[in-house]
Amino acid sequence: MSEPRKLYVRSFGCQMNVYDAQRMTDTLAREGFVEAETAEDADLVILNTCHIREKAAEKVYSELGRLRVAQEEAGRRQMIAVAGCVAQAEGGEILKRARGVDLVVGPQSYHKLPELIADAERRGGNRRAGIVETEFPVEDKFDFLAPPTRAAIAKRGPTAFVTVQEGCDKFCTFCVVPYTRGTEVSRPVAKILDEVMRLADGGVREVTLIGQNVNAYHGADAGGRPSGLAELVRRVAEVPGIARVRYTTSHPRDMDDDLIAAHRDLPALMPYLHLPVQSGSNRILAAMNRKHDRELFFETVEKVRAARPDIAFSSDFIVGFPGETDEDFADTMDLVEKVGFAGAFSFKYSSRPGTPAATMDAQLSEDVKSQRIYALQALLDRQKAAFDAACHGRRFEILLEKPGRFPGQLIGRSPYLQSVVVEAPREAIGTLAMVEVRGVSTKSLSGDIIGGEFYADGAVGHTHFPGQSETVEA
Ligand code: 5AD
Ligand code: SF4
Repeated sequence: MSEPRKLYVRSFGCQMNVYDAQRMTDTLAREGFVEAETAEDADLVILNTCHIREKAAEKVYSELGRLRVAQEEAGRRQMIAVAGCVAQAEGGEILKRARGVDLVVGPQSYHKLPELIADAERRGGNRRAGIVETEFPVEDKFDFLAPPTRAAIAKRGPTAFVTVQEGCDKFCTFCVVPYTRGTEVSRPVAKILDEVMRLADGGVREVTLIGQNVNAYHGADAGGRPSGLAELVRRVAEVPGIARVRYTTSHPRDMDDDLIAAHRDLPALMPYLHLPVQSGSNRILAAMNRKHDRELFFETVEKVRAARPDIAFSSDFIVGFPGETDEDFADTMDLVEKVGFAGAFSFKYSSRPGTPAATMDAQLSEDVKSQRIYALQALLDRQKAAFDAACHGRRFEILLEKPGRFPGQLIGRSPYLQSVVVEAPREAIGTLAMVEVRGVSTKSLSGDIIGGEFYADGAVGHTHFPGQSETVEA
């Protein structure tokens, strides 16, 4: 019997790419591909790329160069595929710019990978004849992508992403997403629940519902009527075994009252909300076409805090958007001061081809962008450190996810996505533990376990879990 073919997927960018990488791996597993430990060891390498900022997009070309050198040194021929948002945005240009690419495949065509790969194989060594597939097909790729096997789910651990919505209709003037991921599409409720049930059956305890604009979710319910994200979160939280639900990434305009109420009513919905604001200046928010002002952001934060007092926020910021003045930037700093964030991502504005902001006047210098990002990140770092420090002595539940650095240690995640190092046996992975936080460092917290599922009954490998949807007698 011949050796199974080996696959290596390297993902850049956002969580949706992580999810897509898994679905590509699952789909190709059905074709007999097994996962390779390293890119060098693989027969097929898929680079799952990101186009959001110039730096992210350039990574694909340096990675392609590296792979080519490694292949030449090893005297070995691998098949190379470029997937993801650079594939969608640049298509055939990739074949011109980088030698040795066999296949370019956009995110809406991943279900076609088996036939595309077979086709590329038939073309054999003739690399000039690389294949490009960047259509937005009429069929729904999710109907054709293979689900993960139980073994694959178990290997990926007790947390999972599930794409519920893809694409964006908001057209922020800086952003490539509407062009790379297309218009907003929401998956039907029943299909998402099927996927979550399968994950739970494989041992997943925490699900993050993902979408580029996830709180605009409006997938069809059983009667064919559109269901909002709040209803979807409720249904997902009811799936036996699922103890925690998160969702990301949201737009402030789509935080409707129903979703805010879900934060009040659903203990499983984690009290940590990623709500990108991008800027604190109303002038810049308008130029970004964000369709909201800073006042709406403040109001939304207040409403969510009233519904769920222990909630913490994270956000995304862009500094140096075209035309941003010192006063505009001061407004961003002021917004950060006023809200107080437990975490954040901040970026220098990066001009993206084809977006309206790329051709706006008054593009700012790298110097100005650097000064502003430095000041903003210093403030955000201080806020994060203060939030973490305030966790000292607090008690909360963590989900034990994986072994720690030293024997006898496990790493869990707090409700606020902080890594928490505890002493616990490996068998406790996948269970919820109550901890008291005893140590705080820049990267993680540490704590003592004071109770939890594993310790309550000593059982390992439950098929159902105490808490969420069942009453378990003491
Ligand atoms: N330049 C810099 N940052 C960007 N983002 C999106 N587009 C750009 C761009 N052109 C940031 C936004 C978004 C996050 C995913 O990436 O902050 O929320
Ligand atoms: Fe990058 Fe956006 Fe594509 Fe995610 S959706 S990979 S962030 S460009």
